[in-house]
Parts: sequence; structure tokens; C-alpha cells
Amino acid sequence: MTEKRQFRAIKGTRDILPPDSSLWNWFERAAREVFESYNFREIRLPIFEETDLFARSIGADTDVVGKEMYTFEDRDESSISLRPEATASVVRAYIEHGMHTLPGNVKLYYIGPMFRRERPQKGRYRQFYQIGAEVLGQSDAPAIDAEVLEMLVVLFKRAGLALITLSVNSIGCKQCRPKYVEVLRQELLKVKDKLGADSQRRIETNPLRVLDSKLPEEQPIIETLPRISDHLCAACRQHFSELKDELNLRGIAYEENWRLVRGLDYYTRTTFEVTAEGLGSQNAVCGGGRYDGLVELLGGHPTKGIGFAIGSDRAILSIQEGGQAPKMPGLGVFVAWMSAATYPAAVRIARKLRECGIAVELPPEAMKFKKSLGLADKLGARYALIIGEDEVTSGTYTLKRLADAEQKKLNENDLLEYLESERRGSGA
Ligand code: HAM
Repeated sequence: MTEKRQFRAIKGTRDILPPDSSLWNWFERAAREVFESYNFREIRLPIFEETDLFARSIGADTDVVGKEMYTFEDRDESSISLRPEATASVVRAYIEHGMHTLPGNVKLYYIGPMFRRERPQKGRYRQFYQIGAEVLGQSDAPAIDAEVLEMLVVLFKRAGLALITLSVNSIGCKQCRPKYVEVLRQELLKVKDKLGADSQRRIETNPLRVLDSKLPEEQPIIETLPRISDHLCAACRQHFSELKDELNLRGIAYEENWRLVRGLDYYTRTTFEVTAEGLGSQNAVCGGGRYDGLVELLGGHPTKGIGFAIGSDRAILSIQEGGQAPKMPGLGVFVAWMSAATYPAAVRIARKLRECGIAVELPPEAMKFKKSLGLADKLGARYALIIGEDEVTSGTYTLKRLADAEQKKLNENDLLEYLESERRGSGA
């Protein structure tokens, strides 16, 4: 006999249950509305891609590619990975579909799950969700960077995420950054003995990432290191300065953070991150930046690019913790029918109410009056609609508001009209 066992969601994955799922939908809807008002359109992408796409774009030496990808061999022996992020896929799709021939900048957004095998903790999951946006085209005008940041701030404001900080930086281009990295490497070699093992390793693999270190004992050392702002070429310096002017023009508050280097290799010039209060160590709710060489690196025409991804799990946690979550419309009407004779009227009225956009629960079996109202209450219905035999005969129904037990007797037309205007009024 096979042993019975219970299955559980795999470590680092989770189910998003009602009523939380309503908040997720609400947040995603807000993102769609805001992004579309900035003329972004949705792109739906595959969840898995060739492993090499990520290795080449994100960088083989990054933590994401080196340690965190879910990679497997397909049945034809090709190597496939679950996407750890979606910028690489957007760029792949941009090239594959010849989107460089489209007029103006190509502005795309996506919503969906990403996969990274990180150590799970609050705000960090192995399957997590991102809402991202990317702009691809011929222009790298700082106004594009600023518009993308404005769009982000507008969404966060709409979602009631008030306590956020936007940090910005410029990490230079392929002309000036390598020179800075070399200067940094030389300085780091001088203090190598005082650094932890991770940073020591990064002196060789990726010195910029040392700036990301959170180790308390490394902080005083990092503060004395040369800063990229003193090593940007004239064009990058001007780009960054114009971006800051643009942000001021748009009234967007930001902080400059010279240590904001980001963990993915494709970035050039502008990098940014949004952090929210109350999330503990995993407080980055959004990250992004420019990636002007990426399309070319992946075999396309020279193209500029910039974008960001919001971590939905963290954004939603932050909305909930800040007590700003909107009240979600719940069940509107519980149809209390009590005998076979009243069932046809109950079915008909339930359908009509639903057609008006009202959430209706119609019990599948006849229930006694008291039990029926008890269940309506437990389900959090706003109204119980009582359909007894008298009501069916007379054609007037009793509508009971459960919060204060106020009752109204209404015929079918008045009932529909009343509930519809109520729904509009309550936003339910
Ligand atoms: P990222 O900084 O790796 O950037 O991720 C963006 C956001 O995703 C983070 O700020 C965080 O909120 C969320 N996130 C990342 N890992 C996890 C996790 N394990 N659990 C929960 N949330 C997580 C990117 O992915 C880039 N593709 C962003 C971008 C778009 N850059 C340019 N365009």
C-alpha cells in the first residue's frame, strides 16, 4: 500500500491566496494603467530561455548566473534556464522581431514570475514576481531616464507607497568605466588584507561589487575608495548632470549614491534603486538602469536601452505594512433562497446582478433561513437578498443590509437599479 503523504510548496515558493491576491491584482492593474498612460505596451515573454542568453547578458560571473539560476538539460540536451529576470528576454525579443524598425522608441512592460535560487527570507523568494518596463531605441536622452523614473514614482504614489527613497548613480560607459575599475582595483589591492573573503575575490572578478558590500567592518574602508563620479568621461558626466536637472524639473526627489553599482553586468551610465521602509534587509523594491550596449552584445543593431523591475512581493509587503492597502470590494449579495419553488427566481436574479458587475453568491442547495443568513454574514456579504415563496408570488424581494440589518422591499427592476447605484457609489 502506498503511504499517504502531504505535499508542500517548495522552499522559497509560496501560494498567494485570497484576499491577498486581490491586492496583487489591484497593484498590477495600477501598474498597467500608469504604464499605458506613458505609452508603454505589454510584452508577454516565455518563462524559460536558452541558458546562454542570461549568461551573456547578465554576466557569467554574477551571483545571479553563477549561483542562482535554475538550469536544466532539456530532452534534446540543450541547456535551458528559468528566467532570473526579464530584460534579457525583452532584448532577445526586440532583436528577434526586428523591433528596431518600429517608429520612435519601443516602450514595453511585463508582469510575471522570475526564479533565483537565493536563501529565502522575508521579502526574498526563489519564485518572485516582477513588474518591469524597458525603453529601447536610438536615443539615450536623459529625458528618457527621467520619464521612466517619473512613471515609477507616479505608480508608487498611486499605490500608497509613501516612504520610499530613490537613489541614483552613473557608473559610466565602456570608455571611462574600465579605467575607473582599474584605479579601484589598485586601491583595493592595497587594503586587501582588511577585506572579507567575498570582497577579496571580487577584487579580481568584479571590483565594482565590493562597493555593494554590507559588511560593517568594510564600511570605513569603502568610504575612502575612489569614487566613479570623479572618473566619468565628459559625455557621461554631462548625461548624469542633465538627468539630475530633468529630475528636478519633474519634481522627483532623489538621493545620489555613488556606491549603487547593481549586480548585473549589462548596466551603463544611469543606475537606480528604490528602497522602502519597514522591509528589513530586503528593502529594495525596484532596481534598474541603462544598458546601452546590450542589444549589440546579443547580436542586434547598436541600440540604447533603459528600464527597471519592481519586486511585486516586496512592494505589496510594503503596502500592507504601511497600512495603506485599499479596502478590496468583497461579496456584494448573498442570495438566500429556501425552497425549490423559489430557485428559478434566485437563479434569474443572481445572473442579472452578476451581469451588472455585482459579486453574488448563490448557494447550490436550499438552506434554512437562519443558516442562510448566518453564512451570508460569515462570507462578509454586504447584502442578503431574501427570496421566499411570498416574495416570488408578490414579485417584491427583501434586501437586507447585513451591517445594520436595514431592510428594503423592492421589485426586480428597482432592486437591480438600487444595487447598481450602490455599487457605483461604494466603488464595489
Ligand atoms: P534586480 O535588481 O535584480 O534587477 O531585481 C529587481 C527587483 O526585483 C529587486 O529590487 C527586488 O525588489 C526584486 N527581487 C529580486 N530578487 C528577488 C527575490 N529573490 N525575491 C523577491 N524579490 C526579488 C533586475 O532584475 C533587472 N532586470 C531590472 C532592470 C530592468 N534593469 C533594466 N531593466
